[in-house]
Amino acid sequence: MSRVTIFGAGYVGVPTAAHFARTHKVTVYDPDAEKISTIRQVIENRSDELHIHEKDLIELLRENNENILLTNSLEKALKNPEFIFIAVGTPPNEKGRANLKYVCEVAEQIAEHLTNDCIVLNKSTVPPGTAYLVQDIISNGLKKDVKVAVGSCPEFLAEGTAVEDLRTPDRIVYGCDDSEALDKITHFFTYLQRRDSLCPMTTLSSELTKYAANAMLATKISFMNSLALLCDTIGANVREVQEGIGRDQRIGSKFLNASMGYGGSCFPKDTLAIAEYAVLQEVPLSIIESTIKINNHTTDYFYNKIAEDFQGNLENTNFIIWGIGFKARTDDLRESKPVEIARRLMDNGAHIHVYDTVPGALNNFKQENTKYSDRFTLHHDQYEMFSNEIDGLIIGNEHEKFRNPDMAKLTSMRHKYIYDGKNILNNYIIRYLTKEQFQYKSVGKDSVVNGRDKTKLVNFLRDKYMD
Ligand code: UDX
Repeated sequence: MSRVTIFGAGYVGVPTAAHFARTHKVTVYDPDAEKISTIRQVIENRSDELHIHEKDLIELLRENNENILLTNSLEKALKNPEFIFIAVGTPPNEKGRANLKYVCEVAEQIAEHLTNDCIVLNKSTVPPGTAYLVQDIISNGLKKDVKVAVGSCPEFLAEGTAVEDLRTPDRIVYGCDDSEALDKITHFFTYLQRRDSLCPMTTLSSELTKYAANAMLATKISFMNSLALLCDTIGANVREVQEGIGRDQRIGSKFLNASMGYGGSCFPKDTLAIAEYAVLQEVPLSIIESTIKINNHTTDYFYNKIAEDFQGNLENTNFIIWGIGFKARTDDLRESKPVEIARRLMDNGAHIHVYDTVPGALNNFKQENTKYSDRFTLHHDQYEMFSNEIDGLIIGNEHEKFRNPDMAKLTSMRHKYIYDGKNILNNYIIRYLTKEQFQYKSVGKDSVVNGRDKTKLVNFLRDKYMD
């Protein structure tokens, strides 16, 4: 059992603490006394409301409660830890660069208060080299003669599945240039994860792996999104192409869903950050720059499908959005594509009816869109807003509740448009909807209803491919 301190009680810090506490003694530090008190009340069964929405997290915290100490006192947080994990925010500035202010503040606090040898690992997503900067700040500021090794241990948690991702990770990446410290970190993780999932490396490689993983996943989505546009143009179905390539194990079937674009707190931020970092290093990563451009373009493409159906005049129209979180099962609206679509529609005179399975997502939407308060209505029921004043239903995220809708309840719509922003309706449902006079629009599988214009393609080939 090791003594661990985690700085930051957010989306990364709290699930990580709960997981580490299965077998280690964990102290969670956050300067925000309210956050600490919220977690304490949950752990002590006095409340069921955490400040973050994460499946099974409350149960895990309670299960491991005897190994968790919560504090907003730096003295307590830095009393004799063997490992410190930094899990504070690195919000991007307007250029897309990660702001290292909070990470550096933690480094200064460690230097000020630490009185024993310790390994410091950074979990926050940071530009490669940050661990060296943190090492510099700590070494220069230490008040006591103690040995501190700084490394990196990026997280790959996805929101909504963080607890499961922690329990059964594909891999644990960590890096430290000090080989003795690296061995100790390996030892720390062997009590938590399968040995073959451990992936030790140098500090810089570990820091870069985090960006590389997110950029690669985002690139898979953008790759499919660009194919989706081609599919719509020629009449192929991107979902079928996805199946066709995804079964090749070298490609892999995950993260190939074409959609109105990826969102969330990681992909948009991290792709921008690594692209900007590479430019500053004078080694531009043009593939990631394209990934970002395609993502923005796909959202425009999807929005334009809606706008074009109303000849660009959305004044006095009413739309329903099912799923406002950037993906299913989260209250997090950061860089949420459905939110972007909602705002664009409201800017152009539409009224929006918003439903999400997570009540916190609706609350956040309300709080973050006060400027539009008379332009939207929130709903806690998936169907209550259907009426003969509704002009379109937009599917915003991939929740199962939206995959197989209760058709009878949709029929009252004035204009029967369905915009599937995540391509989740299957061919059977799309064909049924079409028979019921609905018009189905998606990102790359409109051919299910529009068919394909064989003559046009034949003429195209005759014209361009017969020298
Ligand atoms: C992601 C990574 O998955 C995780 O490993 C990393 O630590 C943080 O970033 P997260 O942002 O929580 O996690 O969500 P994720 O499930 O990856 O989805 C991100 C976005 O991509 C969502 O908007 C989702 O709808 C979209 N997406 C995902 C697609 O459009 N197509 C896909 O095939 C997969």
